[in-house]
Amino acid sequence: MHKPVKNNVSWVGKVDWELRDFHGHELSTHRGTSYNSYLIKEEKVALVDTVWLPYAEEFVDNLAQEIPLDRIDYIIVNHGEIDHSGALPELMRHIPDKPIYCTANGIKSLRGHYHQDWNFHPVKTGDRLDLGNGKQLVFFEAPLLHWPDTMFTYLTGDNILFSNDAFGQHYATEELFNDRVDQAELYAEAMKYYANILTPFSGQVTKKINEFLGLKLPVAMICTSHGVIWRDHPEQIIEKYLAWANNYQENRVVIVYDTMWEGTRLLAEAIAEGIRESDPAVIIKLYNASKSDKNDIMTEIFRAKAVLFGSPTVNRAILHTIAGLLEMARGLAFKGKKAAAFGTYGWSGESVALINEGLQKAGFQVVDEGLKALWRPDSDSLRKAREFGAKFLG
Ligand code: FEO
Repeated sequence: MHKPVKNNVSWVGKVDWELRDFHGHELSTHRGTSYNSYLIKEEKVALVDTVWLPYAEEFVDNLAQEIPLDRIDYIIVNHGEIDHSGALPELMRHIPDKPIYCTANGIKSLRGHYHQDWNFHPVKTGDRLDLGNGKQLVFFEAPLLHWPDTMFTYLTGDNILFSNDAFGQHYATEELFNDRVDQAELYAEAMKYYANILTPFSGQVTKKINEFLGLKLPVAMICTSHGVIWRDHPEQIIEKYLAWANNYQENRVVIVYDTMWEGTRLLAEAIAEGIRESDPAVIIKLYNASKSDKNDIMTEIFRAKAVLFGSPTVNRAILHTIAGLLEMARGLAFKGKKAAAFGTYGWSGESVALINEGLQKAGFQVVDEGLKALWRPDSDSLRKAREFGAKFLG
């Protein structure tokens, strides 16, 4: 399907309403996604990115209805991950000699995925490709936003930034533009995307955005590779990214726990009461890790200024849900967030020490040795949990 974007630029991607898991099962996509591909028809014709592998044939069939495939002069690959390059093998089967422009790391990535020696042309920041009609593509390397191969491509004249994953959202919609969709949904998905994909690279996000802004190129639109195009005040998502990359936090606390016989849940709720008594303004969220979406929890941690993890002790260990979330948090490398541990036990009682270890490895600031309660918390244990909560924020 073709949708006009601006002048001679059109969207030729795929909206995936069905997708509920991404990166295997590592990332939930409650609202589906889209794989955005763009066709630029000037004197020369350029295709920017493709779609995910399962939609390769559909994509190439649709593209062939827009333009005879051999009329495509340049293929731009901003990023080699399979959700954007997956249709390349099918496309290249039709036009095997056409040049592919990507970074040097992009060539490694594409060769690594597809084991093909296509007609690669490595590009660097500042390299240009003339499309005729006074328009050029300008390349901008953006390594680690979010892979080493990532680059942006900028179209002069129309002032469009093709940013690939950066500024994207896993958000299926028939609408193409940011001003045409529900803003709460859009920002929920944009933040979840940043929290779960870009957080580990926040330093690089700040650096590359500032470097790009330093070029003083006017940006009329940001055409991402997932979700909507930012055409209404596109600088709004750039400003959000600069804020999100800067050790972002709101006045929120997240309590993440799992529980076997409700004891650790009772502690979690009593701790929340204590926090509420100490700060009536703070927003407190409780998540049972075994009943909640892991990526939604990570997004809540991203927003929070402090986090508590709770697990009972079982077999001298912690529950696997909590262990898994601590490992996810270690990878995401949140910065500047206070943390503490709690949990019930019956005899050996290792859970709090193990959670503390996990919190430290994940880079949280552990501000208390933690709260342990023997067996099911009685009124005295619950009082101590409230006191623990009351002093947690300091
Ligand atoms: Fe949307 Fe990094 O792929």
